[in-house]
Amino acid sequence: MPAAQYVAGLDVGTTKICTIIAQPAADGTLDILGVGMAPSAGVKHGGVVDRQDVMDVIAESVAEAERMAGLPVRGAYVGITGDHIVAYNETGRVHVDPSGEVTAAAVEQAVQSACDSVPAVPDREIIHRIARDFAIDGQEDIKRPIGMSGYRLDARVHIVTGTASVRQNLVRCVEEVGIEVQRCILEPVATSLAVLTAAERELGVVLIDIGGGTTDIAVFRHGAICHSGSVPVAGNYMTRDLAHLLRIDQEEAEALKRRFGLASGDIARPEELVQITEMGTGEQARVPRRLIGEIIQPRLDEILLLVRENLQRAETYDMIAGGVVLTGGGSQLYGSERLASAILWDLPVRRGSPRNLGKLADSVSSPIYSTGVGLALHAASEGAYAGESIPSGRPPWLAALSQWWSQQVRPHLTRYLPSATFPSVPPAT
Ligand SMILES: Nc1ncnc2c1ncn2[C@@H]1O[C@H](COP(=O)(O)OP(=O)(O)OP(=O)(O)O)[C@@H](O)[C@H]1O
Ligand SMILES: [Mg+2]
Repeated sequence: MPAAQYVAGLDVGTTKICTIIAQPAADGTLDILGVGMAPSAGVKHGGVVDRQDVMDVIAESVAEAERMAGLPVRGAYVGITGDHIVAYNETGRVHVDPSGEVTAAAVEQAVQSACDSVPAVPDREIIHRIARDFAIDGQEDIKRPIGMSGYRLDARVHIVTGTASVRQNLVRCVEEVGIEVQRCILEPVATSLAVLTAAERELGVVLIDIGGGTTDIAVFRHGAICHSGSVPVAGNYMTRDLAHLLRIDQEEAEALKRRFGLASGDIARPEELVQITEMGTGEQARVPRRLIGEIIQPRLDEILLLVRENLQRAETYDMIAGGVVLTGGGSQLYGSERLASAILWDLPVRRGSPRNLGKLADSVSSPIYSTGVGLALHAASEGAYAGESIPSGRPPWLAALSQWWSQQVRPHLTRYLPSATFPSVPPAT
């Protein structure tokens, strides 16, 4: 019986680091095998600010997923985001050779020619070059040009660039834990695979991932991405506002937000009261739930107004007839869809969670898993396997070895590896 291959996605977020181990199923869906989640530390706005903290949490998260799956992770697709990301839409042109048939080499040249138009800035690198569509001798909207006839090929390409050192620092943290970074993927690109439908991508949709430290944006139209961006304000700011204004500690503010949080004060019932414990004095007090909504609303307004501005600047706001999909932990705020619609041109808004999954889909049904699942889906679509499992007759010694690795070695790996020896960083494509 052949070995079964599985994939892994690693979402290094501001509030949690999440590992998903999954296996492509025969029906084209993805079976979830393992999920690991650990509270994040050492990450700010998508970038590493404390290497040791990040490595420790990655090791914890991966070990948890490995224990659940009973399989070791050797490589993973890793998400990247942050306000260092700058994306461009460029067009590249080549003249096809005299045979008049478009070849893979001609497509590559056209895409490269688009990339050459991106201004060269020191320490900036290209993270993605996504061919949106092609034109042959002026005929537009061609998705697969190879084998077609023509003399002039134009490629419209979405090019995502980022600061090289931000990616390298992330890659080094992951690789020091003993996991090869198979590819870095822009988080909204990965997330979109998990939550959007093909119809939405075709009609035009904006995906907004409200995380802890960043809110990621991606616009899709005619089946392809045409804008991506990020704003450095997200859910953790709401928690800080609650802690500051109600004079409670962060932990209580977080719990209060998750349990009683509202996108605006006017959706609370007037008689609803919520108990809080004042910091310092430890005194109990009761506050109207409406007040929690009134504290949160200006922050959510700010996030959505920044998103609107970002879409207006990119001139993509008239391309999103399919509406808005909110995802990420911050999207779980009660009433967030209504507020988003009011600020984003009255477009229809829905909340997006990972979809089209097979076994154990329930274990990742929250929108906080959208990016991790999207990364695993991306890896599966490119056949980039994290390892192979032996489906039957797995010898007991192999199971014991795998368990020993996850429980005893992985969590301590970062302390044993010399910090000066880094494996090579794979090229960004
Ligand atoms: N039920 C809920 N209601 C409101 N907010 C919530 C809820 N659950 C989680 N959150 C908020 O979602 C945020 C975390 O979301 P998520 O897990 O998507 O972020 P992340 O991926 O770690 O961060 P980032 O994407 O910014 O790096 C936190 O601010 C958290 O308070
Ligand atoms: Mg996130």
